[in-house]
Amino acid sequence: MLDWTDRYCRYFLRQITRHTLLYTEMITTGALIHGDTARFLDYHPEEHPLVLQLGGSVPEELAACARMADAWHYDEINLNVGCPSDRVQSGRFGACLMAEPTLVAECVAAMTEATQRPVTVKHRIGIDERDSYDELQGFIGTVAAAGCHVFIVHARKAWLRGLSPKQNREIPPLQYESVHRLKRDFPQHTFVVNGGFKTLGQVERQLESLDGVMIGREAYQNPWLLAAADQRIFGATTTPPSRQTIVERMLPFIERQRANGVPIHRITRHMLGLFQGQPGARAWRRHLSQQVHAADADVSVVIAALALVT
Ligand SMILES: Cc1cc2nc3c(=O)[nH]c(=O)nc-3n(C[C@H](O)[C@H](O)[C@H](O)COP(=O)(O)O)c2cc1C
Repeated sequence: MLDWTDRYCRYFLRQITRHTLLYTEMITTGALIHGDTARFLDYHPEEHPLVLQLGGSVPEELAACARMADAWHYDEINLNVGCPSDRVQSGRFGACLMAEPTLVAECVAAMTEATQRPVTVKHRIGIDERDSYDELQGFIGTVAAAGCHVFIVHARKAWLRGLSPKQNREIPPLQYESVHRLKRDFPQHTFVVNGGFKTLGQVERQLESLDGVMIGREAYQNPWLLAAADQRIFGATTTPPSRQTIVERMLPFIERQRANGVPIHRITRHMLGLFQGQPGARAWRRHLSQQVHAADADVSVVIAALALVT
């Protein structure tokens, strides 16, 4: 998620859950090819398993970025065909590509040619008036024929004109049934449903007939949700860490990053929701958001915030 799941956020989430698959923010091919590649691609080895999400629609450029993903040892490369923002549309990528399944197939073919790693596609169930199941089914058939076998489906359509990206995550109704129908029609492919999930109970129900569930906003705002995922979803036998343990695990990381010149608020901003619903959650949030901006702020701010909730 743009501006949210940066490397600091992902390292934090990885202290909560070892087995869930984590995704980068969407990175455009232009940024990777012409920008500071290492700044966009570097991550901590503990973040694995990790997916690099790309935004783009020029097959050769996507192939070049897939090779970079290989060199950086990402576990999977995902193509964004779901983002409806104006900026993305003007670059002719994101959700507007749902209208061009042949181009998406060319992109996927170029990427799978360039890497041995799985190439996956995240998309919507439709855009604008083009929201029939037949069209969605045609999209999957065309893209799968090019070598994509994993589809992450945000189970609502997007309106490319008239709604902001935020509204496009809330207003078009969720239609999980379309994803279930895709799984019935293409049982050989992997379907991961996305949109609106807030509890592991809801996830478990989806997993009775689908292959996976992607959680976006709730995982960020209430990251503790993921603490039981290793046991409940992935069958791990380890005990979930306490919230306090998670914070303690973050301290050496924060110190190391600070020594490298990273202001601590860039890390702690992702930790604000950890105590959601717990006594003292507001004090934790307030202390952590107000005290981290001083030039000399260090881990003692985090330790002091922790003392307010434990
Ligand atoms: C701040 C923010 C940034 C997002 N950025 C991306 C992105 O870079 N790539 C992407 O595929 N989806 C992005 N999304 C959409 C989410 O991945 C997800 O599809 C959507 O929020 C619905 O799932 P949820 O109800 O679990 O949040 C973003 C969502 C939010 C709130």
